[in-house]
Order: sequence, then C-alpha cells, then structure tokens
Amino acid sequence: MKLTGKTALVTGGALRMGRAICEALSREGCGVVIHCRSSVREADVLQQEFAARGSRAWTIQGDLATEQGCFAVMDQAWARVGAIDFLINNAAIFQRRRLAEVEEAAVLDEFRINLLAPLFLTREFAARTRTGAIVNLLDRRVAGHAVESVPYALSKKALEELTYLTAIELAPGIRVNGVAPGAILPPPGETGAAMKQNAAQTLLKSNPRPEEVADAVIFALKADSMTGQILYVDGGRHLFGST
Ligand SMILES: NC(=O)c1ccc[n+]([C@@H]2O[C@H](COP(=O)([O-])OP(=O)(O)OC[C@H]3O[C@@H](n4cnc5c(N)ncnc54)[C@H](OP(=O)(O)O)[C@@H]3O)[C@@H](O)[C@H]2O)c1
Repeated sequence: MKLTGKTALVTGGALRMGRAICEALSREGCGVVIHCRSSVREADVLQQEFAARGSRAWTIQGDLATEQGCFAVMDQAWARVGAIDFLINNAAIFQRRRLAEVEEAAVLDEFRINLLAPLFLTREFAARTRTGAIVNLLDRRVAGHAVESVPYALSKKALEELTYLTAIELAPGIRVNGVAPGAILPPPGETGAAMKQNAAQTLLKSNPRPEEVADAVIFALKADSMTGQILYVDGGRHLFGST
C-alpha cells in the first residue's frame, strides 16, 4: 500500500520517537495528525514545518489517561480531517520500578497510557472505519522479563497480546502490527551511560536510531499481507538475556 494521500494519527507525536514517526510519514506523502498532551508548542512547530513544505498536517491535544479522553482524541481527529487511515499508538510512560517499589497508583498510570489508551483508541478507530492499519509501539522487553520496570513490562506485554487479539478481531479490513524498539532514547533525566551499556548488550553493538524505528512503522503500514506481526528494532537484544 502506498501512503501518499492517506492520513495517520500519531499519539504522542510531538517529540522523540513520535516526532521521527511523524516526519517519516510526512516524507511518504501521508497526512499526519500530531497528537500531543503537554507538548503543544512542539506539535505546532512540527505542523508548521510540514505545512511549509506543502504536507498535510494537523495537531490535536488531549489526555489519553481516560476512556473519555481517548474517545475525544479520536473524535476530534475524525472531525478535523474527515477520515483517518492509520493509527500509531506511540504515547507511553516509562518508570523504573522493581517489585518492592510498585504502588497501585503507578501501576494504574502505566496501564492507562500504555495499554488502555491503545485499546480504547483501537476500538474507536474500528468503530469509524472498516479499512486501515494500526501500529502499536511495544518494547523489546516483551521478549524477556524486565524486573527493573515491573508495571511498564506488564503493560507492554499486555499491549503485545492486544496486538494479536485485534489483528484477529479486525481482519480482514484492518491490519494490526507491533514495532518493538530496544534502547533508542534515554528516558528524560537519565544519562547516556545506561545507553552505552545497552549498546554493549546488543548483538550489533549499537543502539538503533529513532529513524530506524520510524522506518519499521512505515514498513508495517505498507506491508499489505502482514498482520499480527512484531518487528524488533533492537540490534538483536531480544534474542538473549531475560531482563
Ligand atoms: N525511548 C526508547 O528508547 C524506547 C524503547 C523501547 C520502547 N519505546 C516505546 O516507543 C514509544 C515512544 O518512545 P518515547 O521514548 O519517544 O516516548 P516518550 O517520550 O516517553 O512519550 C511519548 C509521548 O507520550 C505522551 N504521553 C504521555 N502520557 C500521556 C497522556 N496521559 N496522554 C497523552 N499523551 C501522553 C507525551 O506527550 P506530550 O509530550 O505531548 O505530553 C510524550 O511526549 C513508546 O511507546 C515507548 O514505550 C521507547
């Protein structure tokens, strides 16, 4: 499938990986709805950059922490654009918490954004169209047992399962795939030291770039015969090690 003339909604699209995905989509001729929560200024600047070179782009703001918030974001996107062809569930939160540090509120926060938001957005997308494609941003940790980030790991493993369930449920019209990055960008506040350590733990001895993750998203959208598939972009890290 060519992406030219299509339109994608990218959650958390203003910064970091989301921004790289928006840029890759725009380069493919795909219109982009850049969703943001707090990064309104960055989303506006990106939208203006796209518009300045003649690419279709919109921004929408909304908190995805509630079912109603997810409904409002999808509703707003369709009202602004007319029709959405692709949903990229990129927005997420990440906290390092081992078992002893796990608290109910933190678990619920990660489940709301990392699992329930993609679930409700997928439901709302499928309620509005019979054709299209969805890509869920997972994590290479779904292949292991990440004891240093228990709520996050659980939320992303559940999102992997949601990818399979919805690939079955929404076929044949809507394809659903996952992209599972390794360490790409350090979480805010963390140094590059952990990234160096991560690179050393990959087969290819380097951390992938955000643009490589974006390329995998583009491939998943274009691959007409692919659904229920997880693409790891992690230098081979998912093949070994349990954490
Ligand atoms: N970074 C990595 O190395 C890495 C590794 C493996 C997997 N991943 C996955 O790849 C994806 C992108 O990673 P990233 O590091 O670029 O993500 P990120 O910076 O942690 O978060 C992306 C965006 O999510 C949005 N967001 C958070 N809470 C929200 C809420 N309540 N409502 C609406 N939006 C909310 C934020 O938007 P605003 O800024 O507008 O508030 C944020 O900019 C994520 O799914 C992540 O789990 C990342």
